[in-house]
Amino acid sequence: MSDLKSEQSGQAAREAGAPKKLFIKTYGCQMNVYDSERMAEALGGQGYEPTEDMAQADMILLNTCHIREKAAEKVYHELGRLRPLKDAKPDLKIGVAGCVAQAEGEEIMRRQPLVDLVVGPQSYHRLPQLEAKAGKGGKAIDTDFPEEDKFEHLVARPKARRAPAAFLTVQEGCDKFCAFCVVPYTRGAEVSRPVDRVLGEARDLVERGVREITLLGQNVNAYHGEDAKGRTRTLAQLIWALNEIDGLERIRFTTSHPNDMSEDLIEAHGTCAKLMPYLHLPVQSGSDHILKRMNRSHTAESYLRVIERIRAARPDILLSSDFIVGFPEESDADFEATLELIREVRYGQAYSFKYSSRPGTPAAERALVDEGAASERLARIQALLTEQQREVQDEMIGREVSVMFERKGRHEGQMVGKSEYLHAVHVGDNPAQVGDIRRVRIIGSTTNSLRGALI
Ligand code: SAH
Ligand code: SF4
Ligand code: F3S
Repeated sequence: MSDLKSEQSGQAAREAGAPKKLFIKTYGCQMNVYDSERMAEALGGQGYEPTEDMAQADMILLNTCHIREKAAEKVYHELGRLRPLKDAKPDLKIGVAGCVAQAEGEEIMRRQPLVDLVVGPQSYHRLPQLEAKAGKGGKAIDTDFPEEDKFEHLVARPKARRAPAAFLTVQEGCDKFCAFCVVPYTRGAEVSRPVDRVLGEARDLVERGVREITLLGQNVNAYHGEDAKGRTRTLAQLIWALNEIDGLERIRFTTSHPNDMSEDLIEAHGTCAKLMPYLHLPVQSGSDHILKRMNRSHTAESYLRVIERIRAARPDILLSSDFIVGFPEESDADFEATLELIREVRYGQAYSFKYSSRPGTPAAERALVDEGAASERLARIQALLTEQQREVQDEMIGREVSVMFERKGRHEGQMVGKSEYLHAVHVGDNPAQVGDIRRVRIIGSTTNSLRGALI
């Protein structure tokens, strides 16, 4: 809608002090989803309210991801497409946040001059000042890793109702330095939020209707936050404290590193009622030579032993992972070892990626494997993972699960929710409300979801 009439009314609304509109597009991991919510809140204090319609926006923020090559290219492509909007509305502010902002910094403004604001993931609490500077026609950029903690400086949340499932970031950054990965550079060193802050935020979410919380961190199982008595607490101890919150029914966490799967965390999967039986535990490769060159500091064998211990604690747990194929030096035999590991574990779900060389990471110096071979390996690994996913889904048929309903389905009377195993479950003729948790019998399986009937 860019006809003259709507523009005039938009102008009039702004002059009358009506809220400005903010459009945020989020790429990448769940931590970016969480950050986008926090940025919307920070800018709420500046008179912005969210819009789903980019054409209505007074500010457009792209919250970006830098993990693979195409991710950054997509951002530049998307920025190019904003040109007509900016031409039609010169007051429109365009900002780039997230990991591309951190990695590229000023380069973004050089390559795409229509950008007014660049803000790195650790500086979101400074958005109001940055917005003010950009509002006066300046270029605003902040990619520091400030001393102060962004979480403590973000404005208090409005007490609006929330969807029943929420993310809560408890840990940020990473000290692992896998040879392929940009995260330690874009998100900085590993930091854990204090226990009380996490519990306070969780209670606040529950008061606003949240029943399931997913604890987030690039390396979430390395969590080591301080409690009120100054003691360092593990992720398992944090989960046990969350387990005490009335009204919170489900707890999940992601993403974990195999080396940080401590005994207390493994045990909690068998004993903590609210901790859901799903674990995303990326292994990347099944070849010890490649794992070593990736600087993963675990072997295929040590990973399999961790899986064994988790399954001993919680036999029905659904396992998920990430894989990279075509990492420098990966031979056919290395790749076969990865397929072998997959067969041995049997995943319910997994992500696989073709290696993408990231400037500034150690592996970027190394020779690439043949592109055709890498593509073929990606197709093969995906075929195997899809087959396993289908088998695991098919085995659910006839079983009873508990489903938390999150939204209406496409068909009349249908509701869609998640089982404890994180399967999407569609239930027809369903009187349940959003947020209800009900027992459901699984009656069918499709590509990426299950069908169920209320019991
Ligand atoms: N902190 C998490 C997530 C890291 S990013 C972890 O440690 O697992 C998510 C996934 O992206 C990684 O697990 C990895 O499989 C993939 N990835 C990261 N860097 C990559 C690169 N340069 N090329 C291809 N895939 C990559
Ligand atoms: Fe990246 Fe490795 Fe850290 Fe995960 S553990 S964020 S893959 S460096
Ligand atoms: Fe991407 Fe940054 Fe997350 S690179 S995966 S948005 S931590």
